[in-house]
Amino acid sequence: MDLIHKFLNLVAPPFTFFSLCFLLPPYYLYKACATALRYLTSEDVSGKVVLITGASSGIGEHLAYEYASRGACLSLVARREVGLRDVAEVALELGSPKVISIVADVQNVDDCRRIVDETVNQFGGRLDHLVNNAGISSVCNFEDVADITSFRTIMVISCTKSHFSSAFKLRFSPQLFSFCRTPTSGDRFT
Ligand SMILES: NC(=O)c1ccc[n+]([C@@H]2O[C@H](COP(=O)([O-])OP(=O)(O)OC[C@H]3O[C@@H](n4cnc5c(N)ncnc54)[C@H](OP(=O)(O)O)[C@@H]3O)[C@@H](O)[C@H]2O)c1
Repeated sequence: MDLIHKFLNLVAPPFTFFSLCFLLPPYYLYKACATALRYLTSEDVSGKVVLITGASSGIGEHLAYEYASRGACLSLVARREVGLRDVAEVALELGSPKVISIVADVQNVDDCRRIVDETVNQFGGRLDHLVNNAGISSVCNFEDVADITSFRTIMVISCTKSHFSSAFKLRFSPQLFSFCRTPTSGDRFT
């Protein structure tokens, strides 16, 4: 055993040193190239119309700020009017040319239609991106669930999300990008 330890103490440090010398530079070069490529090929969203559901807080709110700082026009959707108003104000300050807020519940199919119609009417028939983010999470062990119907809201939102994405896609553009994420549907790009 001692012999093995002596051998490793002798061989491991120079081996690690030379491995890092040979592997790190190409790794950093690869990372730099990948970053440059991503920067050069990233989509210019300036002036594009982006509809974000669940924009009054959390991920949706911060996506709104990200799009706003890149000059996109925003249609923000959620149920809380005050939260939406605050997000809209910050988005305008960050550089978005135009922001509208739509108070709606994505569980309601009629509301989903209204969201699309209002967005399209306000932005001269344009709609480029859908960020289908609105939703709620519930984290618990399945055996602790006393009433299975308590998941109804999560399921309804998941279903309308899928419906929403398909309807958008058919109506506007086959290239329309939609991001859905719910605990029940997982990640879905349509
Ligand atoms: N954060 C995470 O780690 C995580 C993990 C997995 C999945 N997700 C999913 O990612 C999405 C965003 O998560 P988050 O952490 O940002 O959640 P959050 O902070 O609770 O935000 C959810 C947003 O959705 C809106 N919303 C909820 N139900 C709605 C409804 N029926 N109609 C319209 N708007 C509705 C809320 O606004 P109002 O209350 O004003 O309507 C809020 O703006 C959710 O779908 C969540 O399930 C998040």
